[in-house]
Amino acid sequence: MAGWHVRDFAPDDLEALVRLDSESDAGDRPAAFRLSDVVAALQSAHPTVVAVADGHIIGAAVGRIEGDRAWIMRISLHPAWRDLGMGSALLAALEHRLQRAGVRTLAALLSDAEAGATALNNSGFRPREGMTYFEKTQAVTAQDVVLLSSMGGVVPSPGLWAQLAGMEVEKHLIERRLVLPLAHPELASQHGVEPPRAVVLFGPPGTGKSTFAKAVAGRLGWPFVELFPARLALEEGLAPGLSRRFDEVAQLERVLVFIDEVEEVAGARDDADAAYIGVVNELLTSIVRFRDRDSRLLICATNNVAALDPAFLRHGRFDYVLPVGPPDRKARCALWSSYIARAGAEADIHQLAEASEGFTPADIAQAARTVAQTIFERTLDTGNRAYPTTDDYLRTISGTRPTLTRDMSTQFIDHTSRFART
Ligand SMILES: Nc1ncnc2c1ncn2[C@@H]1O[C@H](COP(=O)(O)OP(=O)(O)OP(=O)(O)O)[C@@H](O)[C@H]1O
Ligand SMILES: [Mg+2]
Repeated sequence: MAGWHVRDFAPDDLEALVRLDSESDAGDRPAAFRLSDVVAALQSAHPTVVAVADGHIIGAAVGRIEGDRAWIMRISLHPAWRDLGMGSALLAALEHRLQRAGVRTLAALLSDAEAGATALNNSGFRPREGMTYFEKTQAVTAQDVVLLSSMGGVVPSPGLWAQLAGMEVEKHLIERRLVLPLAHPELASQHGVEPPRAVVLFGPPGTGKSTFAKAVAGRLGWPFVELFPARLALEEGLAPGLSRRFDEVAQLERVLVFIDEVEEVAGARDDADAAYIGVVNELLTSIVRFRDRDSRLLICATNNVAALDPAFLRHGRFDYVLPVGPPDRKARCALWSSYIARAGAEADIHQLAEASEGFTPADIAQAARTVAQTIFERTLDTGNRAYPTTDDYLRTISGTRPTLTRDMSTQFIDHTSRFART
């Protein structure tokens, strides 16, 4: 083979260098520095050298200076020119230029399959033992952040899901049907599973529908945007407001959109006035458009699934209609035990679960908050750290009115059998 020579990178080399990068990349593990990072370094004139044979670029070493340290961002070697000492020659030339620029430490970060390890070893670089490369990709781009804040959106904490106590049945269902396919779209598609785009959560007040919706966004690392129909109605009229909001969220790369009390904008159209029919139609159209793109999920919540317009629940609009029921005994135990642990207390959770029959998670949260506040005040008043007892909890429970009546529980069971699609 003919010889090569090493020279400085010139802007005209960019295209050849990008092509070489893809040829040099042997493994399926992506390099630590993305090609776009490498191109950015090249464009801002960080030292880079290329190896040329017959007018073709066959190797490159790309540097990036940060203070008195420089990263060797890439060592690209054409496969036909490996093991001929070209990598070491490139490194020597790059090292020389970096030294002249005042660099004291040279660092490189290679994935297992990446070219350059031999050259680095031969050039006196040594692997640092006991180091692990950590990486976290933000789901939200800088552009998204601006958009999001204008829509009042947030990216909920991933820990929210774990804070949801009890409710195992609902958690299991929501995790399997919603979170997993959206979190692993490739695997889902290999199985012919279409990730869900829109779902309804229904159940009595205070069972945690809103909390679940937010927790799903947290699990996915997606932004959460809630649409408030009442506010839209006041600001610009409901139908145009909905349409504009859906256009706005379409600009986000990923998003979970939440509409609470959706029966207010999707109630049955029989006997409704023309304006209201326009609203329901607008929402139906918006949902169809919303479904067109990947990485988005609409969650609508309602206390009264029977009041929804039948067209709304028809197949093709919502992938699932999931019940979020009142906590059973086991779920109440889990809820209580999480609040009791947080208060540093020791109390008989079975007694509390028994006494709080008909309580929703919201009722239990409220009762636990009341006890916590009382004990906090007791500590301040007496100067001794006080802890709540089973009796403290039982007293508060008996003074709290449960949200759920027997009728509501019966109705939920009836609605589940008529409307649930799990
Ligand atoms: N599984 C849970 N563990 C702990 N707290 C919970 C749980 N579910 C709900 N909560 C708490 O109960 C309160 C009410 O929950 P949420 O608002 O999600 O209920 P909802 O079903 O949306 O009610 P509504 O129908 O009235 O809108 C919240 O403060 C939430 O933090
Ligand atoms: Mg709610």
